Amino acid sequence: MASLPTILVFDSGLGGLTVMREIVKARPDAHYVYVADDAFFPYGHHSEDQIIARVVPLIGDLIDAHSPDLVVIACNTASTLVMSHLRERYEIPFVGTVPAIKPACARSKTKHVSVLGTKGTVKREYTKALIRDFAQGCEVALVGSAELASLAEAALSGIAVTDLEISAEIAPCFVRHSADPRVRTDTVVLACTHFPLLLDRLVRLAPWPVDWIDPAPAIARRVADLLGPASRQIDHDGAEMIFTSGRPHKLTRAVIPFFGGRVPA
Ligand code: DGL
Repeated sequence: MASLPTILVFDSGLGGLTVMREIVKARPDAHYVYVADDAFFPYGHHSEDQIIARVVPLIGDLIDAHSPDLVVIACNTASTLVMSHLRERYEIPFVGTVPAIKPACARSKTKHVSVLGTKGTVKREYTKALIRDFAQGCEVALVGSAELASLAEAALSGIAVTDLEISAEIAPCFVRHSADPRVRTDTVVLACTHFPLLLDRLVRLAPWPVDWIDPAPAIARRVADLLGPASRQIDHDGAEMIFTSGRPHKLTRAVIPFFGGRVPA
């Protein structure tokens, strides 16, 4: 019996679950190790040098400990910095998560797109290069949110988060250039994997309807392409869930669907 592939999904916190949820649908047969670097959360508040110095050796330790067949860096704040370092240093395949600027700009009808990420992601040279290369004539507003990842983390852990707190973070995404609805933002890139955790509320609190672009399904397709066809077997062991703080985490029942119904071990 061929052994099932092990996929390690990494994020600063619980945001990577929005990516893992899609990968589990594409590869229900794989074994999953989910690692939340909560000891260093939020990445959006750290400098570029600090993130590289933290993530590159940590991923090496995780590869040694879990021997994954593939690693997904399910974090824009890290992926926009560390992918080349990881590929240089380690031999296994890596898949990153970077702002979906190209598909968003291709889809926008008003040609006004906002990129909602952490303060770190919107400052990155990598993100600016994506806009230079793929804006396709769109005006792209970069919106760095200091708090939304922490609010998403709190909400998933069962802590009350008010509409006002969320509205304040997303307000700058909605740019109206005139009374004409053809010259206002119609597409928002979810450039932080934490944000789709709040999607229902983002949709409800938006001042007008927009397309919210979540790259998770595209990332899952990339993982499936790299690993080849799924086997008919299912890994019944449940996903492993690791928090770098070592703190016992108060996970609510809300996280179970992210593991394809397989309760974390
Ligand atoms: N989930 C991470 C991302 O996609 C960032 C959250 C944080 O600031 O740690 O960017």
